[in-house]
Amino acid sequence: EKGTYPHFMLKEIDEQPFVMRNIIQKYQNEDGGLRIDADIREAVKTSDRIYIIAAGTSYHAGLVGKQLVEKLANRPVEVHISSEFLYNMPLLSENPLFIFISQSGETADSRGVLVEVKKQGHKALTITNVPGSTLSREADFTLHTYAGPEIAVASTKAYTAQIAVFAILAVDVARSAGIELDFDPLQELGIVANAMEVLTAQKEEMEKVARDFLSVTRNAFFIGRAADYFVVVEGALKLKEISYIQAEGFAGGELKHGTIALIEEGTPVFALATQEHVNLSIRGNAQEVEARGAHVCTISMEGMNEPEDQIVLPRVHEHLTALASVIPMQLISYYAALHRECDVDKPRNLAKSVTVE
Ligand code: F6R
Repeated sequence: EKGTYPHFMLKEIDEQPFVMRNIIQKYQNEDGGLRIDADIREAVKTSDRIYIIAAGTSYHAGLVGKQLVEKLANRPVEVHISSEFLYNMPLLSENPLFIFISQSGETADSRGVLVEVKKQGHKALTITNVPGSTLSREADFTLHTYAGPEIAVASTKAYTAQIAVFAILAVDVARSAGIELDFDPLQELGIVANAMEVLTAQKEEMEKVARDFLSVTRNAFFIGRAADYFVVVEGALKLKEISYIQAEGFAGGELKHGTIALIEEGTPVFALATQEHVNLSIRGNAQEVEARGAHVCTISMEGMNEPEDQIVLPRVHEHLTALASVIPMQLISYYAALHRECDVDKPRNLAKSVTVE
């Protein structure tokens, strides 16, 4: 039920701090350690390469998940779009583990891949919000994202939950492999939950950004570098699917290789700057488009912010910045859609679970 909320999407955006805390609780052992099935840990540890398979927003969570597993657990990961995987099949390693990410657990494109890789005798883990769903039943293992039912077609809390579960899985594998980490995922997710609470309370500010930047435009661009790149593609998807504004997310350095041709007077560009090592270069990209007339909205993080930044995220661990930076993008998309009188919860032409290939 929506309760006092005008839309499920807004309710689900607001639920994200609680989802983080729920995940912390569900994945915590009595002794304070992580609760991950030994079988799952072993499957990750014994595989020589992980193949993440997913669609849409879940694919975007996979891009962040890859970074977490590679940086924390030191294991190689590839991420693939499910609808393309069987046609553009990569050369598989000797002992692959497939990880399917799916909110619904019913996405036919992903299931097609699961059926094929099971036929080939490979192991599969499904990270889903619906245990008992097709992808969960047909895989060898399941990790539950505990986000609660997601009703709005545009995925919000499922995305952040998927990333949180990846952080926990990656650290569990790292610890069991004896890798020393200066990163306690449960503690850091607690900090994320607080940051999400701060951000979801800034609805008026987000609504104003949507009004100032998106009320009349036909298109919008999102740029980011390093880990921010993976979040801007999600920001662009969110905006296009519910507001019908044509949006594109790409790497800041790619601008000059083509897209900068589209920048005109007033074109909105959202620049995400949460990564210390690329802060100067992404701000340089923002200046390049601004000099050509773009209307730049910068989303940065405490500690690296500049006075002119429109949105400043509370500081969270550098591995988990996606969990904070996606919140303003979700809210800005929501308000842009609202201002344009779009059907926020049920955008045209889209279905909540896509059960056809
Ligand atoms: C976007 C969105 C879709 C889904 C995609 C995969 O907001 O909801 O892109 O993420 O259809 O769905 P699941 O995760 O259910 O496999």
